[in-house]
Amino acid sequence: MSTQYTNILTSRPEPGVALITLNRPKALNALSSLLLNELSQALKEFDRDPQVGAIVVTGSEKVFAAGVDIKELTNIQYADMIKGHWLGKDWPDLTRIQKPIIAAVSGFAIGGGCELAMMCDIILASPTAKFGQPEIELGVIPGGGATQRLTHAIGKSRAMEIILTGRHFSAEEAEKWGLISRVVGDGEGVVVKDAVEMAKTIASKGQISVQAAKETVNAAYELSLAEGLRLERRLFHGLFATQDQKEGMAAFTEKRKAVFTHL
Ligand code: CAA
Repeated sequence: MSTQYTNILTSRPEPGVALITLNRPKALNALSSLLLNELSQALKEFDRDPQVGAIVVTGSEKVFAAGVDIKELTNIQYADMIKGHWLGKDWPDLTRIQKPIIAAVSGFAIGGGCELAMMCDIILASPTAKFGQPEIELGVIPGGGATQRLTHAIGKSRAMEIILTGRHFSAEEAEKWGLISRVVGDGEGVVVKDAVEMAKTIASKGQISVQAAKETVNAAYELSLAEGLRLERRLFHGLFATQDQKEGMAAFTEKRKAVFTHL
């Protein structure tokens, strides 16, 4: 039986695809420790599930997530932060999930919401999406990765502007700056539909090569070029030990569609 959650919804809209919907509408999907804990659990559950090939994370039309729950943080002390590992233990480090994760963003993705989207592998946004890191307005700085991930994604000058002024930026700017993969067409639910479609396409590939591709692209953020290229070559070599490589190449030669067994 699948786990019951109260702050998120989970479903399987297509074969191979898991959908996680953040669901605290009254608090604009503010990332409380309970929500983060449930998100982390659900991601791990889907990561272990052999029937799932890709995961979509979304919010509502109005909001992806308005950041970490400020009401939980207001009276917290430094020592509590350290002992509770705030944004350490509870922050679901999406980059440790092996399967690809697509963020489908509508409305506000700000503060921890923007950081959550940036921990996903691909971001699709509706034209209504608004991104931002307004922590400076609260007397703090981003604590969920934005100073690093936003800077890697959009460059120092733009990241400085966004983090130091706290201003929101549009889906169009996010696309132009390379933060997101693309802005989808107008209309309710379009971004989730497109993300699910993309996840279905990814889930139809061999899971071993998909996960190797994700690992090597992510390594480009952490390793030197020489180390990254060595990792890529070794994983490429390793894929020749899989049945999926034999099937993929045989199918090409025989002019038919490959049937991957993830072995
Ligand atoms: N935490 C807790 N509650 C929040 C929240 C948050 N991050 N964002 C919104 N809410 C709550 C509001 O308090 C309000 O609750 P009540 O009805 O009980 O008063 C409800 O959601 C609706 O919010 P608004 O009335 O403000 O809605 P709006 O449409 O007028 O404005 C908004 C939307 C611009 C997103 C605005 O809510 C806002 O600025 N929210 C705060 C955003 C923010 O500062 N995020 C950063 C948080 S810190 C962080 O994330 C740290 C980090 O780096 C990890």
